[in-house]
Amino acid sequence: MSIMVQKFSVPRGTSDILPPDIPVWQDIEAKARQVIQNYGYKEIRTPIFEETELFVRSMGHSSDIVQKQMLTIASQKQESAEEAMGGLSLRPESTASIVRAYIQNSLDRKEGLSKLFYIGPMFRGERPQKGRLRQFHQIGVEAIGPDSSHPYLDAEVIALSINILKGLGLKDFQVKINTLGSEEDKANFSKWLREKLQPDIKKLCPDCQQRFERNVFRILDCKNKDCKSVVGRLEIGYGHLSRQSQGHFDSVKKALSSLGIEYEEAPCLVRGLDYYTHTVFEITDASLGSQDALGAGGRYNNLVKQLGGPQVDAIGFALGIERIILALPKHEGPAAVALTAFIIAMDESAQSKAFEILNVLRCEDIASDMSYRVASMKSQMRLADKSGAPYVVIIGEDELKRDCVTLKNMEKGSQEAVDITNNNYSSLKTKLRERD
Ligand code: HAM
Repeated sequence: MSIMVQKFSVPRGTSDILPPDIPVWQDIEAKARQVIQNYGYKEIRTPIFEETELFVRSMGHSSDIVQKQMLTIASQKQESAEEAMGGLSLRPESTASIVRAYIQNSLDRKEGLSKLFYIGPMFRGERPQKGRLRQFHQIGVEAIGPDSSHPYLDAEVIALSINILKGLGLKDFQVKINTLGSEEDKANFSKWLREKLQPDIKKLCPDCQQRFERNVFRILDCKNKDCKSVVGRLEIGYGHLSRQSQGHFDSVKKALSSLGIEYEEAPCLVRGLDYYTHTVFEITDASLGSQDALGAGGRYNNLVKQLGGPQVDAIGFALGIERIILALPKHEGPAAVALTAFIIAMDESAQSKAFEILNVLRCEDIASDMSYRVASMKSQMRLADKSGAPYVVIIGEDELKRDCVTLKNMEKGSQEAVDITNNNYSSLKTKLRERD
């Protein structure tokens, strides 16, 4: 009787990042970290799951993420969806988590402005397609605190996101900015929008007909062509803004210009999350196709208070690493960190000495490896070659007798005997370090 063995695959919308792809990831993360730290931000790490309610309260009940994309961890005891909502969810983004950590750790009492960054996986139950995954990774920053209201901070955060992308070699991206104004301005704007859209409500797509009631702003950036033509006929401007909100936006634009940043003013850019106020921005790259946002962000001046903290302003952004990789020019990525030495035991009698030397080199920070299967010299040399190590250390019967190893320089093709009498490996170590 044959037994069927079930084959497992990665869950839909997720992927394995295999060793040959790792150097690109490490390079992006290292370069981004450097740029972010140049701007004075410090790393924070929060759990990858939080109370579901934290995300519902911050992004808003009517946001697409909360409505359709939350990956909620339902324990076996929680049988109904209602109960599961009270449980835990994988984080769909990190802004809410950072604000939770800011409040819980009383960071407002410790510093005037908390400048924080994170790099890590996020989870959204979306329909997967190119550039849209269920597990994806973000590089994000959040600046939160009593001293975070200055328009220069908006300009700093936008400049930082651009400089990360530039530092990674991206050039062909566009920056769109807009302002939503204060909560009061937003309320005026949604009232105005509903009045204007009411006569055309039947012309909107079914999703937007629902959005009319629960999230009217989202109609502005719907990609459906009927919705676009309805929206195109409205004269979206900044009439709903208070003088103060308009002043803030003007100062942000002036600061961006002083930094030489090119941007497009996009009055229909609204973003899908409830927490945004004032400045919002998005960075797009047309080469990405329909999922063209490399990153996005904005102000959220009321979120800290709304989640039980003090009234402090805040602003941040997040870039999607997978989308950055898709947009990067296709050429050889950085090489993986290679070994310095590959050790070959020519026969079983030499294996224990080879194993001892391997351990000595590794403990001295000289990256080394060997095959534990004693095979022919030819096949071990093939392995050594494949490992990319510039040196091969060979030990056989002859070397054991003479208390030495044969050191082969793979680049020059030369070889020499190196003395290891009394287990003194200092000349071997010196020679292996010569290349550094
Ligand atoms: P977001 O626009 O939802 O904003 O996501 C930011 C970026 O994450 C997107 O522009 C995109 O590059 C990437 N991204 C989002 N969803 C996916 C997905 N399903 N697959 C692949 N990449 C994706 C936020 O997350 C806000 N927390 C940003 C922020 C920080 N606002 C203020 N502070």
